[in-house]
Amino acid sequence: MSSIVLFGPPGAGKGTQATAIMEKTGLPQVSTGDMLRAALSKGTELGLEAKEYMEAGKLVPDELILLLIEERLKEKDAEKGVLFDGFPRTIPQAESLAKITQVSMVISIEVPDENIVERIVGRRMDPETGEIYHVKFKPAPSEIQDRLIQRKDDTEETVRSRLNAYHTQTAPLAGFYEELGILRRIDGNQDIVDVTNSIIDLLV
Ligand code: AP5
Repeated sequence: MSSIVLFGPPGAGKGTQATAIMEKTGLPQVSTGDMLRAALSKGTELGLEAKEYMEAGKLVPDELILLLIEERLKEKDAEKGVLFDGFPRTIPQAESLAKITQVSMVISIEVPDENIVERIVGRRMDPETGEIYHVKFKPAPSEIQDRLIQRKDDTEETVRSRLNAYHTQTAPLAGFYEELGILRRIDGNQDIVDVTNSIIDLLV
């Protein structure tokens, strides 16, 4: 069992790039953000506990995240490894992960802070397909415009706290994985297709 981690600041393009990596590797995507939003919309205890952290742009406590991950990794499709998206996000999460699965590569999508706010504020999601769009960089087809939704934490104010959480708690993980020799840096400040091609080059 060997997994891949997609790493980067909010809005770096982790969710956008996950599809191409899944197609190339056959690994299922495990996005802690998506799992938390699903728990929240189902009204589970864990979802309700996570809500205030997510809406404030803060990280959800490690214990809750690790519970979600442990449960998810017991599922059959995770036997051969998974594509983690948005996990791990703290050193304790990475240390716990190392005890339960082997990580073969960490793909760090690097985008300067000044580009992040525009990406996040312009993001729109299709609730039917899960597809991620952007009002300027990846406009949705006109026939589905009416059903698009905007994430509650995609406001300029919340993005600033999410970026702060990223720099203080998550960015140090790059050094953690660099020391293990498995960190691969990608310039995320290019067109979506060029970022995809750079990632695919890493996977051959
Ligand atoms: P999560 O859902 O993981 O959010 P995030 O890490 O902030 O990442 P995003 O989903 O915002 O961005 P992305 O990198 O996937 O970018 P995307 O592809 O959509 O987490 C949400 C919250 O849950 C956290 O704040 C925290 O509270 C909690 N949480 C989750 N995991 C946790 C954990 N492990 N520990 C603790 N708490 C946790 O792209 C963004 C936009 O840019 C889109 O509109 C897209 O179309 C556009 N775009 C993408 N690539 C490009 C490009 N190359 N050029 C131009 N536009 C682009």
